[in-house]
Amino acid sequence: MKNLFVSGHPLIKHKISLLRQISTEPKKFRELVRELAGLLAYEATLDMKIRPIEVQTPLTTMMGSKLEEKIGLIPVLRAGLGMVEGVWELMPAAEVWHIGLYRDERTLQPVHYYNKLPVAPTVQVCLVLDPMLATGGSAVATVDLLKKWGALRIKYVGLMGAPEGIDRLHESHPDGPIHLGEIDERLNEKGYILPGLGDAGDRMFGTA
Ligand code: PRP
Ligand code: URA
Repeated sequence: MKNLFVSGHPLIKHKISLLRQISTEPKKFRELVRELAGLLAYEATLDMKIRPIEVQTPLTTMMGSKLEEKIGLIPVLRAGLGMVEGVWELMPAAEVWHIGLYRDERTLQPVHYYNKLPVAPTVQVCLVLDPMLATGGSAVATVDLLKKWGALRIKYVGLMGAPEGIDRLHESHPDGPIHLGEIDERLNEKGYILPGLGDAGDRMFGTA
């Protein structure tokens, strides 16, 4: 599928397996999510635009590079919050704009409850951060919102996705790259990713 990027990196595979383990406690879970977010964001920003700048080293001057685009991190509450720090460590100048959505457990439809976006876009590239791409409802609603806001380049960065969610996000927004750590098998009858890791928000915040 065009615009789907699944990391084959051994570090990411190793850390995602630890994350899936039922015995992984919230503290370790948060640490892994933070690390994985950084690794995936590193891969997702491979095409960031740079411009040449003059750099003075202790020995001479040379032409170096400076990131040209302003990046916005869009964590989807709650679980996306756990991804922010790991990405921010790599790009401390990124702006963070929160969006609050939860999935109605009965209908599996996203319910929008919080939006901290400013009136007009202040960034050139948006990285949507959410560990789980299940039915794709939350991801599509987030990208819909960002497009309505006026965002032009939107990339989705998640830890794992079910084929159902990947198809839905791609069909709704074929222009938006989807970066995932791994692709899982399918959704269960309750809309959970299989094999997955359970409820990411609950495991992260210890609310299971
Ligand atoms: C999880 C996850 C996504 C959503 C994915 O959030 O973080 O936002 O489910 O499911 P979907 O692809 O079927 O929409 P959840 O609704 O559990 O909210 P929480 O993070 O507050 O627990
Ligand atoms: N949200 C989660 O946290 N986990 C899933 O498996 C599906 C949606």
